[in-house]
Amino acid sequence: MNNIEEQIKHLTEEINQHNYNYYMLDNPTISDYDFDQLLNQLIQLEKQYPEYALPDSPTQRVGGSVTKQFRTVKHVFPMLSLGNTYSEEDLLDFDRRIHELVNGQVEYVCELKYDGLAISLVYENGLLIRAVTRGDGVQGDDVTANVKTIGTIPLRLKGDYPDLIEVRGEIIMNHQNFERLNREREEIGEAPFANPRNAASGTLKLQDSAEVARRGLDFKLYFVVGHQHYAATHFDSLNKLHDWGFRQPDVMEKRTDINGVIDFMHEWDVKRKSLPFDTDGIVIKVNDFDMQQQIGSTAKSPRWAIAYKFKAERVPSKLLSVDFQVGRTGIVTPVANLTPVPLGGTVVKRASLHNKDIIEAYDIHENDVLYVEKGGEIIPKIVGVDVSQRELDAPKVKFITRCPECGAELVQNEGESGTFCPNELHCPPQIKGKLEHFISRKAMNIDSLGEGKVEVLFDNGLVRTPADFYQLSYDQLLGLEKRIPASEGKAERVVSFREKTVENILNGIQKSKEVGFERVLFAIGIRYVGETTAKKLARYFKNVDALANATAEELMQVDDVGERVAGSIVDYFLQPENLEMVIALRNAGVQFELSAAETQLASDKLAGKSIVVSGVFSVPRDEIKRLIEQNGGKNVSSISKNTDFVLAGEKMGPEKRNKAQKLEIPIISEEEFYKMI
Ligand code: IVH
Repeated sequence: MNNIEEQIKHLTEEINQHNYNYYMLDNPTISDYDFDQLLNQLIQLEKQYPEYALPDSPTQRVGGSVTKQFRTVKHVFPMLSLGNTYSEEDLLDFDRRIHELVNGQVEYVCELKYDGLAISLVYENGLLIRAVTRGDGVQGDDVTANVKTIGTIPLRLKGDYPDLIEVRGEIIMNHQNFERLNREREEIGEAPFANPRNAASGTLKLQDSAEVARRGLDFKLYFVVGHQHYAATHFDSLNKLHDWGFRQPDVMEKRTDINGVIDFMHEWDVKRKSLPFDTDGIVIKVNDFDMQQQIGSTAKSPRWAIAYKFKAERVPSKLLSVDFQVGRTGIVTPVANLTPVPLGGTVVKRASLHNKDIIEAYDIHENDVLYVEKGGEIIPKIVGVDVSQRELDAPKVKFITRCPECGAELVQNEGESGTFCPNELHCPPQIKGKLEHFISRKAMNIDSLGEGKVEVLFDNGLVRTPADFYQLSYDQLLGLEKRIPASEGKAERVVSFREKTVENILNGIQKSKEVGFERVLFAIGIRYVGETTAKKLARYFKNVDALANATAEELMQVDDVGERVAGSIVDYFLQPENLEMVIALRNAGVQFELSAAETQLASDKLAGKSIVVSGVFSVPRDEIKRLIEQNGGKNVSSISKNTDFVLAGEKMGPEKRNKAQKLEIPIISEEEFYKMI
């Protein structure tokens, strides 16, 4: 083993140990900063010496590879589902059936039922080699690259693990990450996910594993396939997995009879409300493997296990009125005002009616009695109407046709359930939304303007577009007042902008002129252009003129840019107000092109070349793309007659290969590519 190889091995082991301490033991022994330093060191080394990268390298945790189409894989053992029960009586029946099939005492294991999606993980010689979704139970999608980004899933087992093992569990998204993701989506005008399960499922099927890593999924272990060899009971098998590097289930308790199970159920029906993730029930399993075998399974589900589903708490409440709220991106949300009712520990007075289609589907009339439910979820929702209590002449609740804030006619796009106000440039909540987005941390990061100060500037008529920030003067700001409404027994307060505040604001604005083009492009608020897309656009077009002049087809050459995003960019630059704003910002000194350092090329060996990257490489795919750009080339997403060559890794899709051959476009290997540059 040479020096470099040794160094890579050492770094891999060290970082994996830190990951273990952090994810499995909740006990980090290194600062985030030092950790990032180590990881970057390894990323750089692996980039230079891909031949020494190890299969359990922690660099896979940050993602980077792109899967265009997931491979379908047949499960070695089918992935069964569980029978559902809803009452104590059902649980007693389950226990009776079990005792008809086996003699003597039966020990049960009680667990939480995680509300996410099932995954099968296969480890060969201790290495995670495959992660497959449940699919139809017989075959599912190979989502290995995405699953490798999940910190609580070991990439390599430790201890005396068997040569081949299949582990199953649930992929979930916790409440914190779910809410962050939805906030980000709303900020760029994307529809939020309805619940954490949908968010987890949508995330696991993303093509870009770096985005999966960013969103933060989690894994909950619950089952081992083909376990008989190394444990006698389910409980012990999960403990074994703990020895081999998995996290122990949050809750797993043995009960000696069904009454103990029922106690567990009551206990967790209350405690689940304070868990940081969704559970929709508990799962009860016969602990002893021999007994499980004796009891057997049907084609669909095991007879030795059952799920008890918690009753979602649901209460009737009378509809008082409907408000229509206009969000920062113009989406109009109907909100029901209800007679206050206690539900799941809080008093509910309002609940979202989501959108126009839902109001119509439930056929809601004025003064209706609605059912409000709080399941595992955080936000109460309307789940039905008590039609028997409807007043005879009650008119239907009508969705408004004009924006309550600015009067513009509302729009509903074909095939979308959301209704929105199209008057982005003149509708007050949308103007404020754009201003707040502009100064936010990931955009221009002008934190001295936070905490409602933007609103004060807006209300005083000082800013209408982000460009106005750069024209503000000391005298205009000094002495402005901010009202903080009375709350929780405290009287209304008035805070005025003093010298120090004003100086900080002006300094913050001044400093934002140093923010790079990538973030400026995110900050100016083009619908559907999030952080990552902005970065890719900035690197591809290099300056705003090239971007503003690009056609939809040209825009779609950029990775991740489809018809919808391209259309939105073209529309944006067609609006004279937007062009004026960009020009005003540029005149004020805001960056609208990549800096010399950012565009500096390692070489111009690929100058003018359009390159399609496809397949799996020895380094993350984004790394390959960066090398192309650094050497003057352009990454394009699909093969056309204008493509200069296709850079093919392993497992390049046959469709791409055929297309390249048909158009007589050269196909180049990773090795040949390194030689070229
Ligand atoms: S055991 C042989 N345990 O519920 C059955 N499943 O309808 C193995 N689930 O597809 C499943 N929490 O996705 C088991 N603690 C738990 C679970 C659990 C959630 C999911 C799983 C399964 C579905 C059953």
